[in-house]
Formats: sequence, structure tokens, C-alpha cells
Amino acid sequence: MLADQLNAVSGCFDLAAQDAVYRAIFTRRDVRSHFLPDPIGDDVLARLLLAAHHAPSVGFMQPWNFIVIRDLERRERVRDLFFAARQQELPHIAEERRELYRKLKLEGICESPLNLVVTCDRGRSESSPLGRWHNPEMDLYSTVCAVQNFWLAARAEGVGVGWVSILDREALKQLLGIPDHVVPVAYLCVGHVSEFAEKPDLERHGWGRRLPLADLIMSEVFSGEGEAALKAVAAGISGSPVR
Ligand SMILES: Cc1cc2nc3c(=O)[nH]c(=O)nc-3n(C[C@H](O)[C@H](O)[C@H](O)COP(=O)(O)O)c2cc1C
Repeated sequence: MLADQLNAVSGCFDLAAQDAVYRAIFTRRDVRSHFLPDPIGDDVLARLLLAAHHAPSVGFMQPWNFIVIRDLERRERVRDLFFAARQQELPHIAEERRELYRKLKLEGICESPLNLVVTCDRGRSESSPLGRWHNPEMDLYSTVCAVQNFWLAARAEGVGVGWVSILDREALKQLLGIPDHVVPVAYLCVGHVSEFAEKPDLERHGWGRRLPLADLIMSEVFSGEGEAALKAVAAGISGSPVR
């Protein structure tokens, strides 16, 4: 199917396919509310997991596993971990922002019909660490690539995904029986949703705003000035995702 959409000469997608890719990227949201109770079909979930499994990985290590959690009682115990972790995080938030922090909805653990933990098995390529000898954390980055693939494919399928990182990692590992050498990289709330917000929740609530892309571009070396033409183009397209 995808092959039909590939331009035979340059390998680029046709315009509709390109737009679909950018649409998934620019309309993807971190979702914590608006979850519908409808279950996600195994056909859909399998496709999303396949997208995750096709992420790039250092040394083709494929360090990930996917723990599917449907049991509500187990999810309630994870949500208790979230409540405890949020209390622990609160004093470290700037005082003037604590009231807003308290009001923010930062998880949808029980509202979503299923949770997914994407883990990284740090021992999977121990004997031949291609690409990891100098930078052993590359397996964690690879796992994050799998999470992003899942997130984008989910958006295309109308499935909402919310990442919950406000969790004590050790407590989560204990609760889910995750062995020592495996890191739970992402705890995701997954489900069909009634809507996808146009802007990030944290932007809508005045917590943060998207930084201007042009301000983030450097030339040749860190903090290097230059690339005026590129920055001007970047400034022109920011905020208008599709060509
Ligand atoms: C590594 C990571 C951890 C995150 N942890 C949380 C979290 O614990 N709770 C939450 O509400 N959102 C969490 N988010 C979502 C971000 O707040 C969100 O991506 C950001 O505000 C931009 O919004 P958008 O994803 O809708 O574009 C996390 C995102 C990432 C990438």
C-alpha cells in the first residue's frame, strides 16, 4: 500500500502521504482526559505495537518490551503511586506555580481503557554493544523512538496516548515485577478519545509555550550565529504545520 504512494524516482511520498505524516506529527497530543471507555481492538493495538517495533535502535538491538495493563485494580495501584509522586514533586515546583500545578490533570491512568509500559532491557546486547560502547544510554534513546512511533501511529488511528512520568520508578518496577536490568521508560495511558486538543494542555493552561524554532537553530558550533536564511524560513512556517 505504502509502496504505491512512493515516488519511484526520488523515494519521496506523494503530497497526500506527506501531508498525512505531518498531520500525525502536528496534531499528536499528550492526552490525559477525554478518554472514551471503548476498548481498543487487538487489531488496532497490534498495529500500533508493530509501528513501535519498527523504530530505529542502536545496533538493531530492539531493547523494548511492551507490558499491556488492562486490570483496573492494578491501574488503581499505579495511580496511587502517581498521587504519592506528585506530592513529592510539588515542593520542587516554583512556589508561584504550585497552585496551577495542583490543578493540572497530569494522568489518565484509570480513565483510559488500557495502560502500556514500554521497557528497555539494558542487557539485551551486552556481549556486542555495537554503537553503545561509548554511549551506553543509546538503548534508552532507542526505546524512546519506539514510544514516539507508537504515539504517532496512535494519532493516525484516532487513539489518544498520555505519558505519565510522575511515578517512582523503583516502586513501579516492584508493582509490575520488572527485573533489575530492565528500565520502564514510558508509562502510557491509551484509549480512544472524544477529541484531540488543538494545543498542548500545558500551553492552554499557561504553564509553557512553544519556543520559536528559529531561536533554537545554531550554526556550526554550539551558540554559533548564522543560518539567517534558514531561520527566516523556519520563522515563516512555525505555527503553520502543513505546506
Ligand atoms: C518524557 C515525557 C514525560 C511526560 N510526562 C508527563 C506526565 O507525567 N504527565 C503529563 O501530564 N504529561 C507528561 N508528558 C506530556 C508533556 O507534558 C507534553 O508532551 C507537552 O506538554 C507537550 O504537549 P503535547 O504532547 O500535547 O504536544 C510527558 C511527555 C514526555 C515526552
